[in-house]
Amino acid sequence: MTDVMDWDSAYRGEGEFEGEPPWNIGEPQPELAALWRDGKFRSEVLDAGCGHAELSLALAADGYTVTGVDLSPTAVAAATAASAERGLSERTSFVAADITTLTGFDGRFATVVDSTLFHSLPVESRDAYLQSVHRAAAPGAGYFVLVFAKGAFPAEMEGGPNEVTELELREAVSRYWIIDDIRPALIHTNVPKLPGMPPPPLDMLDDRGRLRMQAFLLQAHKES
Ligand SMILES: C[S@@+](CC[C@H](N)C(=O)[O-])C[C@H]1O[C@@H](n2cnc3c(N)ncnc32)[C@H](O)[C@@H]1O
Repeated sequence: MTDVMDWDSAYRGEGEFEGEPPWNIGEPQPELAALWRDGKFRSEVLDAGCGHAELSLALAADGYTVTGVDLSPTAVAAATAASAERGLSERTSFVAADITTLTGFDGRFATVVDSTLFHSLPVESRDAYLQSVHRAAAPGAGYFVLVFAKGAFPAEMEGGPNEVTELELREAVSRYWIIDDIRPALIHTNVPKLPGMPPPPLDMLDDRGRLRMQAFLLQAHKES
């Protein structure tokens, strides 16, 4: 099995990126923030692969009870510290664990959100991950995934995220979840600081100078 990267090194600033990893944009991904504002999320929420957990923290500030799970102890420590600083500790808990083997939360969450985790997993781990979050979801729970679309990165690039086609995403997720919608979407990331990387074309940038990258937004639910 090939891991996409050493996640804890990336959060410690010792990985391939100089400084912060590019997905740390200091706020929830805009596509997921829009779903939250549309009232699509219900408490309790599982933030799968939460990282620094800006989504969890925004939801907790809005009254949701949130559990964030991430493989990286460094990311979990940062999320826990940020939650304490913002006075949100009562409504958040962050757990360092492998989401593909998560146990102890059976039937608990009314919402499972995947903010760019799906493409961060080895392809061979997808099924175990989907089974695991399905087990942690309550009957009727919502499941929301923001994932890089095939072609988001140059074809010649070695390694990197496991982008998906719409069909691949549909086939994987529908083994466990009832899919309500899959539509084209955008993932916003900071421009990565990589040696020798040319500046990106201006039309790829949003109004804050971040990259806008091709993605899919999936909405699904668990049978009631
Ligand atoms: C691209 S980052 C996204 C982080 C965060 N959700 C966000 O939107 O900023 C992917 C995250 O998935 C986590 N991750 C990767 N494999 C995992 C696994 N097997 N179990 C739990 N978390 C995992 C990484 O540590 C990383 O924090």
